[in-house]
Amino acid sequence: PAPYTLLVQHAAQVLTLAGGLTSRPLAGPHLRDWTIIERGYVACVDDIIVAVGAMDDLDLARLGPETRLVDATGCVVMPGLVECHTHLVFGGNRAHEFERKLRGESYLDILAGGGGILSTVRATRAAPEAELLANALHHLDGFRRYGVTTVEAKSGYGLDRDTELRLVRVAREAGRQQPVRVVPTFLGAHVVPPEFREAGPQAYVDFILREVLSDLKGEAAFVDIFCEKGAFPLDVSRYYLEQAHHMGFGLKIHAEQLHDLGGCEMAAALGATSVDHCDYLTPAAATRIAQQTQGQTVAVLLPLVPLFLRQEKYASGREFIDNGLPVAISTDFNPGSCPSKNLWLALSIACLKMGFTPKEAVAAATLNAAWAIGLAADCGSLEPGKRADVLVLNVGSVAEIPYWLGENPVREVIIGGQYQ
Ligand code: NIG
Ligand code: FE
Repeated sequence: PAPYTLLVQHAAQVLTLAGGLTSRPLAGPHLRDWTIIERGYVACVDDIIVAVGAMDDLDLARLGPETRLVDATGCVVMPGLVECHTHLVFGGNRAHEFERKLRGESYLDILAGGGGILSTVRATRAAPEAELLANALHHLDGFRRYGVTTVEAKSGYGLDRDTELRLVRVAREAGRQQPVRVVPTFLGAHVVPPEFREAGPQAYVDFILREVLSDLKGEAAFVDIFCEKGAFPLDVSRYYLEQAHHMGFGLKIHAEQLHDLGGCEMAAALGATSVDHCDYLTPAAATRIAQQTQGQTVAVLLPLVPLFLRQEKYASGREFIDNGLPVAISTDFNPGSCPSKNLWLALSIACLKMGFTPKEAVAAATLNAAWAIGLAADCGSLEPGKRADVLVLNVGSVAEIPYWLGENPVREVIIGGQYQ
């Protein structure tokens, strides 16, 4: 066998994320019963992990002059974080609305007055493509410093044919120009644009289905929609996702963020890969989703969003886990409801406000997040055959990860076997 090209050794703990379910996302007790190796190593050949184990079992015969050695004494070693829900590409920012929110205005009121998402749409339409790309690259650089090695990136601030296609193109180009892998999602159905205010949500999704989606085959794996008061109602969301499904796209939905409209259950019944936000999803509906989808649909929880929107209601993560619904955690990075790329902080808030344990939170931001974007075969765990996305952390145990509130524990980031 080929000599190792990279060996991360002497780790205090290797968080493998392996040893549980393999054919579907981790759910129930499996979210926390994966294997931690004390005094362990991770070995790679080129961009692939080839062996993970205890130092005592290391095959010294596979070390050679070409083996790069990384000493992880006292450190946790884990897979690169997977950020499965972001709005990466946008123009401008919304600091002025942050001040309005601090004075008491609500997210949906600001949107109804033509601000919110619509103010970012105006800034995004006006921005040159080169500027959108430079911003996206800046944010990807920030994610990489936090140890995020894969990022999902939604469009949704164009809301016309040309700008939406531009946003998907920019996300893909940004993925090519730096090492973090980018997975584009089409969120043309974010809100109804001003041009369709008279015609309404149904007319707008008909336009997308007719004029835009056929150009996105092979460019975006997933189609997403914001099902909410002031955005798209349940029946229009169902119609749109059904049609997108027939066109061969994977499905996602923003639902139960601010009200319980039944969007998560609807999308799960259509085979959605993920249902996102879920702050108003009831534990009973979570149980039904888990049973009806046989644990295939992941609920993506976004704990920094209620924090930033000054809302008391957080998704019932503890109940979802106990009821067998697979869960992932993401920042939702975007200019309006979460301008933070700190996924470690999201893990801490998931523990503090949603009832996750540290082990569950780590699984939710790695392997289950990979499931939520269809990449569980490639990333999200330290297992032979997966891409060599490996983090060395400045902490000595898994419990310390969400404990150092707001810190970045990353010491080293390795993406595809390459030291960053
Ligand atoms: O996931 N809820 C809808 N969309 C985004 C926010 C977008 C924005 O406010 O710009 C979200 O929270
Ligand atoms: Fe979002």
